[in-house]
Amino acid sequence: AAPKRIAFLPGDGIGPEITDEGAKVMKATGERFGYTFQIDFGWIGGSAIDRLKNPLPEETLTLCKQADAVLLGAVGGPSWDRNPPELRPEKALLGLRKELDLFANLRPTTLFPGLEESSTLKAEVLQGVDFLVVRELTGGIYFGEKFTEETPAGERATDTLVYTEVEVERIVRRAFEIAQVRRGKVTSVDKANVLESSRLWRKVAERVAKEYPDVELDHLLVDNCAMQMIRRPADFDVIVTENMFGDILSDEAAILTGSIGLLPSASLGEGHRGLYEPVHGSAPDIAGQGVANPIATILSVALMFRYSFHDDAAAKAIEGAVNDVIASGARTMDMASTESLALSTEEVGDKVVEALKKYQPDP
Ligand code: NAD
Ligand code: IPM
Ligand code: MN
Repeated sequence: AAPKRIAFLPGDGIGPEITDEGAKVMKATGERFGYTFQIDFGWIGGSAIDRLKNPLPEETLTLCKQADAVLLGAVGGPSWDRNPPELRPEKALLGLRKELDLFANLRPTTLFPGLEESSTLKAEVLQGVDFLVVRELTGGIYFGEKFTEETPAGERATDTLVYTEVEVERIVRRAFEIAQVRRGKVTSVDKANVLESSRLWRKVAERVAKEYPDVELDHLLVDNCAMQMIRRPADFDVIVTENMFGDILSDEAAILTGSIGLLPSASLGEGHRGLYEPVHGSAPDIAGQGVANPIATILSVALMFRYSFHDDAAAKAIEGAVNDVIASGARTMDMASTESLALSTEEVGDKVVEALKKYQPDP
């Protein structure tokens, strides 16, 4: 088969450390399941600003448009935090998502056995946690009109939260399709008691739901959802919500799994091409030390096999290998109970590769 073209965008902070491990696991999975890769490096974020004065250089965008899948680390960091809006690393992520029309961001939250003790929550609350946040990714307050102006009351800053019916319908539909092959439950999260855009969201969700009689739909206001998510997390199956609510709720969800260093994501559009990246950021506080948890990135590679290559067996092999490594007690600092037991980023990546070679699917 033709090699899969991968746009490889390590980015800033811990990005290069974790994507190295992701690529390692991707290649090992390829060897076992019959894939070859053409991996093309691209600058993005702060490192692209420093080199090319552009957070999302044209050549990087072209690379991504020609690729079968994009593997991304993270962007951002303190040295660029005072930059003007056009020269901010985060601008690259938003631009890439928009340019590739990746409107559906899937953020699965599952608890690996043995990590209950890494979480700050009680083990019994965490039993059976297995849900998926479907976050709208190319609309809402991130992409509405924004500006600042001088007024008699001083500077005034505006962000606008806009959704069209078409935008809501396609993301809600995606959530229902996913729920059909999961446990058949969609929770739509909004702020319909206050926001006009949320009232539209809820109306569209109700209408789309009629086409999926096998899926149960309920609604939660976002503040209540934030609370229920840590009170009875095992009750959730698919959560569908707008861009910023999804951003916030998914970091909260990370704590159910034990660490933000474990949560992967897939960003998808209508086609096969996807962007795969951890939910966490560039972690400037630990960058360059070789201690970051690579598992969120490795699990993002599993999602790449599942959603871009339609290879569930390969995805399951990676997830199974991660499960085995965690069961063996291997931990990076963020998951370990004492620092002296912690392994490096590279050691954990190597262990996943070893486990992948030995992994046997359930008969
Ligand atoms: P962050 O997710 O980078 O870090 C939050 C905390 O979690 C830090 O203490 C960090 O050390 C820890 N952490 C994160 N990932 C980890 C990992 N793999 N292993 C171990 N610990 C990990 O969030 P932040 O500090 O709010 O943001 C830092 C920068 O990252 C900002 O510039 C932000 O804009 C950017 N960011 C980028 C992305 C992305 O590229 N997708 C996502 C979120 C934040
Ligand atoms: C994420 C990040 C990004 C977002 C930032 C860095 C633009 O927090 O991917 O969750 O808010 O979408
Ligand atoms: Mn985020």
